[in-house]
Amino acid sequence: MNLVVVSNRVARGKANEPMTGGLAAALLPVVEKSGAIWVGSSGRVRHGAQREPFAEIEALGAGALATLDLPAAHYGGYYEGFANSALWPALHSRTDLICASQEDYLSYREVNAFMARALLRFEKPDAAFWVQDYHFLVLGAELRDLGVNRPIGFFLHTPWPARAIIEGVPHHRELIEAMLAYDLIGFQTADDRENFLSYVRSDLGLEVRDGAITSRYGISRTAVFPIGIDPEKFEQQAAKAVSHPEVSRLRRSLNGEKLAIGVDRLDYSKGLINRITAFDRMWTLQPALARTVSLLQIATPSRGAIEAYGNLQEELAKLVSDVNGRHGEVDWTPIRYLNKGFSQTVLAGLYRTAQVGVVTPLHDGMNLVAKEYVAAQNPADPGVLVLSKFAGAANELDTALLVNPHDIDGMARTIATALSMPLAERRMRWEAMMARLRASTIQQWFAGFVDALRETRIHRRAAEPPIAATPAPWPLRSANSGARYH
Ligand code: F6P
Repeated sequence: MNLVVVSNRVARGKANEPMTGGLAAALLPVVEKSGAIWVGSSGRVRHGAQREPFAEIEALGAGALATLDLPAAHYGGYYEGFANSALWPALHSRTDLICASQEDYLSYREVNAFMARALLRFEKPDAAFWVQDYHFLVLGAELRDLGVNRPIGFFLHTPWPARAIIEGVPHHRELIEAMLAYDLIGFQTADDRENFLSYVRSDLGLEVRDGAITSRYGISRTAVFPIGIDPEKFEQQAAKAVSHPEVSRLRRSLNGEKLAIGVDRLDYSKGLINRITAFDRMWTLQPALARTVSLLQIATPSRGAIEAYGNLQEELAKLVSDVNGRHGEVDWTPIRYLNKGFSQTVLAGLYRTAQVGVVTPLHDGMNLVAKEYVAAQNPADPGVLVLSKFAGAANELDTALLVNPHDIDGMARTIATALSMPLAERRMRWEAMMARLRASTIQQWFAGFVDALRETRIHRRAAEPPIAATPAPWPLRSANSGARYH
């Protein structure tokens, strides 16, 4: 089978370069080995005259990396607009932040259609397509419209929320009907899948049997594939990284003080305000902990052109400075707050240096930082993971200290408990988590999805009437006929 993997962001990063995005970083090592063709955005845009859709096709391990300059006229509406100002907030249950225009929706559809046309180049008799994430909900339907009859799978890296929330997305019905062009739809957790099926049953009125949905496209199977990491590789990387200059500098600066670490994209779904407030609360309620523990919070700037992200960055900077101002001493800074990215190697060393890992998102598809923190620990003296029960990872890492990120006092108490946990308990919890990580690696995730996709029997019925009496879809192409890019 000739596998074509599609995602908005791709990676060519090396272990010693900063990595952008959990999905791209996670996919890189497995895609490299698989021999697949990985297709995604080049990060640049194209203007009308450019005919060749691919900016570059280069070797990537046993396969290739093919990047596209996405159409300039639609990029903002697609990425900052519909994908990250309508879908992302809804998928993370923040309907209050949904803010996308009809033009944004149009651009989202146009970019999906553009990607579909570009992918035709890789359509071979033994090809299969595996589309990643919310940027491309309708790519499968666009490929079907172009006559592609090969297996097409889709995996969602984010949560899928309850029906009432997804109903807040403009054009939700068209989008989800279009998703049924995928033969296999994968989710991180059983709850995400159940929420999706509940929408399909109730809003679309479709038959669902054993998680398989029958629609005008044929049968779409749904399944749960929790994404993993390569724990062995991370363990080795962390053991080596403790002597990395940046990690040694951190250790020296601690003067025997304990360290808690948080590493996140600067995103409202990550619960950073609640986390910093919980540390503030902890130092207020237990003043004896001042000077004995500090927090290293890495918050990598993300999607800066979107207002909600700019506002969050400002709010966080103010909060951190307020907490440091109140609790700090001439020779002690409670929170070391950094707005930049680090390489995986350095991160592995930082995780191993910290006695507590704090991963407390309000909602998260999986959260690979939680898994990486665990894998990076010294088996003889492991740290403690404080993990939000609303991260997908909590399903597997259930011997972490699970917290409700909305309960600030509860989080403050739990962080203090983590700091004083005896070695025997730390080891017991850590060993149980490592066993889960070893039983469900990124390699198994990748192979599991691809095998399931390969086995997919395509029951596509020829020409059937549309699923239900839906309003006529938005006149996509005609409204935008001036903006063709081929
Ligand atoms: O959670 C979904 C996800 O694709 C992550 O895997 C990744 O970290 C993030 O979103 C990427 O965001 P962006 O590409 O907008 O920086």
